[in-house]
Amino acid sequence: MNIAVIGTGYVGLVTGTCFAETGNNVICVDIDEEKVKKLSSGQITIFEPGLEKLFERNSKEGRLKFTTSLANGIKNAKVIFLALPTPPDGDGSADLRYVLDVADKIGGLLKKGSYKIIIDKSTVPVGTADKVKQVVLKSAKEAGTENAEKLFDVVSNPEFLREGVAVEDFMKPDRVVIGTSSEKAKKILGELYAPFVRQGNPVIYMDERSAELTKYAANSFLATKISFMNEIAQLCERLGADVDKVRKGMGSDDRIGRRFLFPGIGYGGSCFPKDVQALAKSSHKVDYEFKILEAVMKVNENQKVHLLPKIKKYFKNNLKGKKFALWGLAFKPNTDDIREAPALKIIKELLAADASVAVYDPEAMANVKKELGDIISFADNQYDALKDADALIIATEWSEFRTPDFTKIKSLLKNDVIFDGRNLFELYQMEESGFHYESIGRKVVKG
Ligand SMILES: NC(=O)c1ccc[n+]([C@@H]2O[C@H](COP(=O)([O-])OP(=O)(O)OC[C@H]3O[C@@H](n4cnc5c(N)ncnc54)[C@H](O)[C@@H]3O)[C@@H](O)[C@H]2O)c1
Repeated sequence: MNIAVIGTGYVGLVTGTCFAETGNNVICVDIDEEKVKKLSSGQITIFEPGLEKLFERNSKEGRLKFTTSLANGIKNAKVIFLALPTPPDGDGSADLRYVLDVADKIGGLLKKGSYKIIIDKSTVPVGTADKVKQVVLKSAKEAGTENAEKLFDVVSNPEFLREGVAVEDFMKPDRVVIGTSSEKAKKILGELYAPFVRQGNPVIYMDERSAELTKYAANSFLATKISFMNEIAQLCERLGADVDKVRKGMGSDDRIGRRFLFPGIGYGGSCFPKDVQALAKSSHKVDYEFKILEAVMKVNENQKVHLLPKIKKYFKNNLKGKKFALWGLAFKPNTDDIREAPALKIIKELLAADASVAVYDPEAMANVKKELGDIISFADNQYDALKDADALIIATEWSEFRTPDFTKIKSLLKNDVIFDGRNLFELYQMEESGFHYESIGRKVVKG
């Protein structure tokens, strides 16, 4: 099948590459000329485990191409995926500018005789498929296209991939949600997704509005689980309980489940923060206050800086001139994505208190350098960051941070102090190695 993917970021590049991997001809379109140049010359633009190999193979075999021209991209495409940004606008609602702008252009390019399915893969508020349809229709009519309504369908097909395991999630999705009232679109998309659900995972068909809401409901529920556990962790700290034990105790109930119960320094990334906010705003717009979501967001904001009072207390409220080593910048492991990463908030607070920061992250340093420049120092490896630092702060649970050489850490740090925002280490380990160790929802180990 000929496919166009508009927007070649985290979702677009994975989508395009994985569809090419199952034998489709894919053209990815992006307005970022530099990105398209790099991708066209065989250079991958994001870090995502497993993606590079597929990207290289499919590019080499001519099934995966890149262009800045929307017209060329969609000319022969039967399906057009919109994987465009939907960032928060001024009041936190999803900004549909990118999606509707492209819809308008697509409308002007529709030609008689070539039916196309336009698919919202971006996370978009309920009613967006209707809006996209109206915009496409209007611009097609303005361009003089006759019977334009017969030339296209608009479908909502939200994406559930997780950065860090995006290829696996795309190739073997838990489910595919397809929101459409068109039988024709349903059949074509069923065929397109068939290779991805051979194990029997469901393709769930529904109306457009339900599909749009499903995505927000899923992300908001997961964010709620995180904030709930972070509140339990707060209680644990005050009541002398251990959140890791509580987590295991409650998570082994099938109705609750073990996943997504890890406390930490809050959720970040390009999805949860904006999607929870957008769903809360959408609710307001229909005169409904989604009270749980308001609390989820408030808890998360507090949690991102939860380590700071601990750090300040340890250093007797004086961070001036202190140096901190910080491990982990990405909002979660196995990605270079730093959007809304808790680490950035911690860094800013430390700098505001006149401390200095040396950081290390296996993949996200270049992105942080672009954003913060040289106001912090970037270490070549996790141990270099520790040299002469007053304490180590852990902000992302990369695997390589999980079993470090504690003797080496002690020899490099000025003080044997660790503030761990991701509960990487067992308390007994810290007791044995003599660190002062503060984590989330567990007792303080006094070194
Ligand atoms: N990142 C995720 O893990 C994830 C998961 C599921 C859903 N989503 C949703 O998918 C959408 C895309 O997210 P993302 O993380 O891939 O965003 P991204 O910022 O990584 O990528 C968006 C891309 O669109 C391009 N673009 C902007 N305007 C364009 C235009 N007019 N024409 C062509 N290209 C244009 C940008 O240059 C960029 O490369 C969002 O709605 C997001 O909420 C993201």
